[in-house]
Amino acid sequence: MSYAAPKDLVGLAFGGDYNPEQWPEEVWHEDVALMREAGVNLVSLGIFSWARLEPREGVFDFGWLDRLMDLLHAGGIRVDLGTPTVVPPAWFYRAHPDALPVSREGVRYAFGSRGAICHSSPAYQEAAARVTRALGERYGQHPALAMWHVHNEYGVPVLECYCDTSAVAFRRWLAERHGTLEALNAAWGTSFWGQTYGDWEEITPPRATPTVCNPAQRLDFARFASDSALANFLRERELLRELSPGVPVTTNFMVSPTQCDTIDYWRWGREVDLVTNDHYLVAEESRNHVNLSMAADLSRAVGGGRPWLLLEHSTSAVNWQPRGIAKAPGEMIRNSLAHVARGSEGAMFFQWRASRFGAEKFHSAMVPHAGTDSRIWREVCELGAHLAALAPLRGTRTVADAAVVFDWQSWWAQRLEWRPSEDLDTRERAEAFYAALFDRHLTVDFLPPDAENLADHPLVVVPALYLATAEAGRNLARYVEGGGTLLVSYFSGIVDENDAVHPGPHPGALRDVLGLVVEEFQPLRATQRVRLAPAPGTAAAGQERPELVGDVWAETVLTAGAETVWRYADGPAAGGPAVTRHRHGAGTAWYLSTRLDAGQLDAVLAAAAADAGLAPRTTLPRDVEVVRREGDAGRFLFALNHTATDAKVPLPGAGTELLTGERAEGALAVPGGGVRVVHLDD
Ligand code: GAL
Repeated sequence: MSYAAPKDLVGLAFGGDYNPEQWPEEVWHEDVALMREAGVNLVSLGIFSWARLEPREGVFDFGWLDRLMDLLHAGGIRVDLGTPTVVPPAWFYRAHPDALPVSREGVRYAFGSRGAICHSSPAYQEAAARVTRALGERYGQHPALAMWHVHNEYGVPVLECYCDTSAVAFRRWLAERHGTLEALNAAWGTSFWGQTYGDWEEITPPRATPTVCNPAQRLDFARFASDSALANFLRERELLRELSPGVPVTTNFMVSPTQCDTIDYWRWGREVDLVTNDHYLVAEESRNHVNLSMAADLSRAVGGGRPWLLLEHSTSAVNWQPRGIAKAPGEMIRNSLAHVARGSEGAMFFQWRASRFGAEKFHSAMVPHAGTDSRIWREVCELGAHLAALAPLRGTRTVADAAVVFDWQSWWAQRLEWRPSEDLDTRERAEAFYAALFDRHLTVDFLPPDAENLADHPLVVVPALYLATAEAGRNLARYVEGGGTLLVSYFSGIVDENDAVHPGPHPGALRDVLGLVVEEFQPLRATQRVRLAPAPGTAAAGQERPELVGDVWAETVLTAGAETVWRYADGPAAGGPAVTRHRHGAGTAWYLSTRLDAGQLDAVLAAAAADAGLAPRTTLPRDVEVVRREGDAGRFLFALNHTATDAKVPLPGAGTELLTGERAEGALAVPGGGVRVVHLDD
């Protein structure tokens, strides 16, 4: 996959969502003047403008957008032009009420918000294509146009639609996936509870049922929902490619599992010319910079490691969390540059100017209600200057130390009902392992289970992979055979792509590579804890392993080739293996059979990292983040200090600090809350 930058954009991208239709035209001129003052070079325009662009069916009003495009062009500001297909106008729904989506319980959503779309609705598809074509014809060659921004955040606020039109489309999708009804019956295990289908017409979306609905049916429906939105994206993308060749087409993702859980981003990432992502901090989390880094690493991952672009975040508070906590001074700049460190080619915001009305009027913006005599505006201008100074690193790639396997489809499957414990939580495990890696200062590449490049990473961590195909299991085994170090956590490799348990004892897809059998799951009571004692003689001399405490989950594990490194000291599996290590081929596979929090995980991670030859960077405080980007343009080292105390970061050589212009050598001083970026000498 090649990397497509916004057309004719100089330097890194800086700007935000621009919604000028909320303001009188006089304000537009002031906007452009202020954008120039702050160093803004790109804005996302027209994302919610369908009603203004097409006030009546087939009647277009482009005058206002013509003037804006020209005004921005004259001001030297490039445009990421939206197709407004996330907000069909009121007239559309009046004519096509059945294009409003229906919930699982059978409730049809109403107009008056946004994102109310049945992705299978032919009327919606036709209307979306019409407005996209009209925009493509009108602006496809406009000199201000840098990129196409299709739709907005597919997947939220609602993706799945359970209406009759969706039922027809679901059947079509199933016929393509399974071929025959017999194959579908086998894949869904419909001999259970007498669910066998004798005719395609009998199949419905997994609507509300009296008790648990067939999990394979639900999993296929989740796949179908992601695919049906993708089909709509592809339809728009193809139109735009035809009408506007050479201009990249994107749609803004929300890859953070905290923010969107319905889109299979591994599939989607391949279809955009440039991955763009929106990320919002969970303001009340004390270490929310860790989740930010995870989102940034996922953004890079779904584009196959290419640079990507942060298309939205906030200058300060958001208005949709329980409390709109303002960012502390310097936090917005640190957030922005943390994304850049992990591959973003700039920093964009929602939104340019704070709204006076509507649902988002209490959301922060680049131009806040307080105007330009404000801390936020001053920091926005400071960030503009910083991004200009960082322009030389454009096109370089973030360097990772380890990999984490994550899979959206596995997550969807695991969280369905009637699992062995309701405390099993794929997202929680992914975030906990990520935090443990972050705390060791290991930069992470996320990979899908079938990734071909596992071997590029000395350590591959699998936090929770309930659904692993037999092929994915073989892929992980090959990685270990070839010399890699694998660390797998519990309840992984259990079912195949149809949510059917792999033949033989658990964990079917990973049994051989792990060298063990899970004889019985031992879920723990809500407040129960289990103690783990290190097995004598397994640590290298002088490296005592600590006692650990697990919760949520334990297992009766029988080793079959693996050695026991920690043993359960109490609980339902007392005396049995809790953490194991298996030499397999030229590599090593570790298994952890209970839940440890991020702090406790460190001991297991340290042991696996030692096998992988990853040296600890223990001299750095936990919340001083060091990330590297490298490429033809050179080597760049980011040091982000998330603590309030000044820190010193050892440098691998001399260089120029780009934000201050000073020379740096030996130990780099990074003020509390600050960021430094060193362009290392060749
Ligand atoms: C995003 C969305 C924006 C705005 C923002 C507020 O998810 O794309 O339009 O609503 O949230 O935080």
